[in-house]
Amino acid sequence: MGYTRDDLKRLFIERYGAAGDLLIFFAPGRINLIGEHIDYNGGLVLPGALSLGIYGCLRFRDDDLIHLKSLNEEQNVTINLKNDIIYNPDVRWVNYPAGVIKYLLDNHKQVRGCDILFAGDLPDGGGLSSSAAIEVLTAYMLLYAHGEKDIDLVWLARLCQQVENEFIGVSCGIMDQFAVSLGRKDNALLLNTATLEYEYIPFRLELYRLIIMNTKKKRELAASSYNERRAECEQALAIIQAHHPVATLVEAGLDDARQLIDNEVLFRRARHVITENHRVQEAVKALKNEDLATFGRLLIDSHISLRDDYEVAGFELDNIVEAALAVDGCLGARLTGAGFGGCALALVHGECVQEFIRQVTQVYTEKTHIKPDLYVSTLQDGVGRVS
Ligand code: GLA
Repeated sequence: MGYTRDDLKRLFIERYGAAGDLLIFFAPGRINLIGEHIDYNGGLVLPGALSLGIYGCLRFRDDDLIHLKSLNEEQNVTINLKNDIIYNPDVRWVNYPAGVIKYLLDNHKQVRGCDILFAGDLPDGGGLSSSAAIEVLTAYMLLYAHGEKDIDLVWLARLCQQVENEFIGVSCGIMDQFAVSLGRKDNALLLNTATLEYEYIPFRLELYRLIIMNTKKKRELAASSYNERRAECEQALAIIQAHHPVATLVEAGLDDARQLIDNEVLFRRARHVITENHRVQEAVKALKNEDLATFGRLLIDSHISLRDDYEVAGFELDNIVEAALAVDGCLGARLTGAGFGGCALALVHGECVQEFIRQVTQVYTEKTHIKPDLYVSTLQDGVGRVS
C-alpha cells in the first residue's frame, strides 16, 4: 500500500495530461486509542494519526473550474467556482471536498481553479476517518497552494468539522479532524474537546505493537445511530442540568447521574460518557508510567462500556475483540471510532504478532464468514506536503 511521488505524478498525468507544476499532499487516517463518543460531550480523547491515508495532487488551471477525480471512485465531478456549491446526492464522496471548498469561500479564503486527483489506501467506511482525511486534505492543499504557508491547523480542523456537521449532516465531534490535522509521529494526541487544549503523549510501545483489525463490516445506518446517541446525551445532560450547573456531561458525577436520570437507557449512555472520560485520564497516566498492562486493561473496559452501556459495538466488533483477547500476548483490545462496524485495535507483544494475526483471522472468519484485515500500525504526523 502507499504511493510514491513518481506513481502519483504518472497517475495524475494519465488523467489530466502533462503541463504545469504539481503539488502533492498527504492526510492520514486516525485511530482513537481511547475516549470514545465523548468528543461531543466535552470529554478527553486520545487519538493519533496513521500511516494509511489519502494523497492529494493539485495543479492550478487558468479558469474557475475545479476538477475532482479519485483513484478510489468511478465518478468525477467538476465544480464551477462561479456557481453556488450545493450537496450532490448522486456522487457521495465528492461532497467532502466540495463542502470544504464552499466553506473556504464562505470564510473569504481565495480558491482558484485547479485539477485535483485523490488517491488513498484507507478502507472506505472502515472507521479510520477517511472523511476527515479528505476534508482536511482538501482544505490544507487549497490554502497551501494559494500561498498560506503558516496554516492554523486548529482553525482548519474546526472548519472541516463544520462541513461534516452542516454540509454532510453528521453531528460528529472535533476529534477526527483534529487528529488528522495535528497528529504527531510516535505520539498520541490528548485533546480536551471542551477547550481544544491539547498535549502530545509519547506512545512508547517498546516490545508491543499496535494492531488494527478491520472487521470489514460496513457501518450501515452509522450516521443515524450516531446522531441518535448524541441526542440521548443531550437529553441526559438536560436532566442533570435541571439540578446542577454542569456545562457538559463529563462534568457530572456518576452518583448524580444515577439519582437524577430515571430512564434506564439514558442513564447507561451517561455512565459510559462519565466513566470513559475517567479511563482516558487513567490511560494517559499509564502511558506516562510506561505501564502497558494497565493501558491494556483500560482498553478492555472501554470496549465493555461501549458494548453494554453505549450499545455501539455489534456482532462483528464484539467477535473480533473477543478473538483478540483470547490470544497470548494481547494486553487489550477495543473498537475504535464510532462503532457499528469498522475497526478495532489491539495491543500485542511483538513476538506474538504473527500468531495473533493467524488466530484472530481464523476465529473471526469462522464466526462471521467475513475475512478481516489485520495490520501492525504506528502513529504518524498529521496533514502536510509531500516533499
Ligand atoms: C466518529 C466521529 C468522532 C467521534 C467518534 C466516536 O469518528 O466523527 O467525532 O465522536 O465517532 O468517538
